[in-house]
Amino acid sequence: MRDDFGREINYLRISVTDRCNLRCRYCMPEAGYADIIPREEILSFEEIVRVAEAAAKLGIRKIRLTGGEPLVRHNVVDLISKIHEIEGIEEIGITTNGILLPEMAEDLKKAGVTRVNISIDTMDPEKYKRITRGGDLNRVLAGIEAAKKAGLTPVKLNVVALGGFNEDEFGDFIELTRRENYIIRFIELMPIGHADVGDSYGFISNQEILSRFPELVPVENEKFSVSDDYRLPDGKGKVGFISALSHHFCASCNKIRLTSDGKIKPCLHSNEEIDMKGPLAVSDEAVLEALDRSIHHKVEHHLLNEGAAPIERDMNKIGG
Ligand code: GTP
Ligand code: 5AD
Ligand code: SF4
Repeated sequence: MRDDFGREINYLRISVTDRCNLRCRYCMPEAGYADIIPREEILSFEEIVRVAEAAAKLGIRKIRLTGGEPLVRHNVVDLISKIHEIEGIEEIGITTNGILLPEMAEDLKKAGVTRVNISIDTMDPEKYKRITRGGDLNRVLAGIEAAKKAGLTPVKLNVVALGGFNEDEFGDFIELTRRENYIIRFIELMPIGHADVGDSYGFISNQEILSRFPELVPVENEKFSVSDDYRLPDGKGKVGFISALSHHFCASCNKIRLTSDGKIKPCLHSNEEIDMKGPLAVSDEAVLEALDRSIHHKVEHHLLNEGAAPIERDMNKIGG
């Protein structure tokens, strides 16, 4: 299916929960302040599968489960098995903080997950605790190993670049790709929802990071990729730059999002949402029609740099 700007839409990101076992400062407000979506408003597995089936009929080929933290949703492996059975779905990815991967990686692979993207902003246990408000870095490191062992590869590691926080580790992250087939991606901090990194950490552009590592050589990007990719001349892995603000990739956008409370978001950086619960209560045909219509609500590009209104939904209720 194509949107009004001729872009092929073949990728659906499904946020299966807004809950999370961490509280990253750039993503969620502190515990207690976080208003979690009431359970009864969250789509059931059956409803998610019905939307995914309609999406596959319309040309969606890739599904990525996101959160909050997707692995905290009870029995998420069963949901994945059901999505895996849908005709037309060729790839199932998960974006996770990795905390639960040590126990779950094998089962995820068996259920049909192709690859995982794991968030890790620092390799220092104390700093990890600070940015996630209490997380245990050792679990994530074990999770990365478990993902590799299970064959959920190549593993992509998402690093949100924060001036004054992990700048001193950019070189270490890049160095990891010399000997391991990781795809490290530096993500520019995006202003979304009510999260607040405070005054001590700041935005740092990907151009700025790139200028510090002249040894990186450009490589061809994956098709529809959100990142501009590079590698060390003798590196096994890659280094990607996701520059949502400084150099956005909206022209090659191929995705829509389904939130855990049943809204289609045609663009991450727009407040526009299309309700799916109404159509779900009517028929599969109504779901298909609503989904088809939602594609035509995709904007040409986001207006973050032009002073657009901030996104009201918190990142954990969108899934990135
Ligand atoms: P693969 O390409 O399948 O590996 O995954 P991905 O990069 O689409 O997914 P992931 O969840 O790892 O996203 C990485 C980062 O890119 C997150 O910070 C997302 O918020 C961001 N991102 C993904 N899609 C978009 C988009 O359409 N617009 C913007 N601005 N950011 C996006
Ligand atoms: N800006 C940039 N990236 C973010 N993520 C979460 N919140 C933000 C933000 N405000 C990232 C997470 C995860 C992915 C889903 O989105 O680190 O890797
Ligand atoms: Fe949880 Fe991911 Fe948000 Fe961190 S970025 S609080 S791990 S959903």
